Amino acid sequence: MAIRKIAQLGHPVLRQRAEEVPVSQLTSPRIQSLIDDMLETMRDANGAGIAAPQVHESLRIAIIEVGDNPRYPDLPAVPQVVLINPVLTPLVGAPGEALADHDAVEMYEGCLSVRGLRGRVRRPRKVRVQALDRHGKRFDQVFEGFAASVFQHECDHLDGILFVDRADAATLCFLDEYARYVPLAERLVDGGATD
Ligand code: NI
Repeated sequence: MAIRKIAQLGHPVLRQRAEEVPVSQLTSPRIQSLIDDMLETMRDANGAGIAAPQVHESLRIAIIEVGDNPRYPDLPAVPQVVLINPVLTPLVGAPGEALADHDAVEMYEGCLSVRGLRGRVRRPRKVRVQALDRHGKRFDQVFEGFAASVFQHECDHLDGILFVDRADAATLCFLDEYARYVPLAERLVDGGATD
């Protein structure tokens, strides 16, 4: 395993549509060691997730893992998931229509490829995630709230989309200022949370 260099905003690899992973190559040493390296790189950088283009590999692989993370100390845990060729389907809202508040999750997102910056992004609060896992087994689960945000952020990377494209520009801030001026209650607002 190795820690790989993380591509930063402006690197063209972050703007490409990543290629599907051929299922026949999924168990190859190249793909399996890429996944191991992505895990190690993500953990080293305290990421909540990582996508292959962020380590300069234009392939449709994304990993999500939120444990005890110093970059996101006030957020709930999400168990480790490795997604190959994921397909996300929003389960709330209608295409082309504005998202109602109860169907939206708003979070100040950050990204290992946009070092030091946070900004508020509004997304559908419930998504179905279909993919293969690293062993080629089918993965099909529904995620809500914070987890739904993280899955959408990581899968956006596979289409060359970064959170700054979706963020409310007026909310963009650096980490120090985020910590100082963004109240806890505004960092994650899940309009559909029932408790
Ligand atoms: Ni990111």
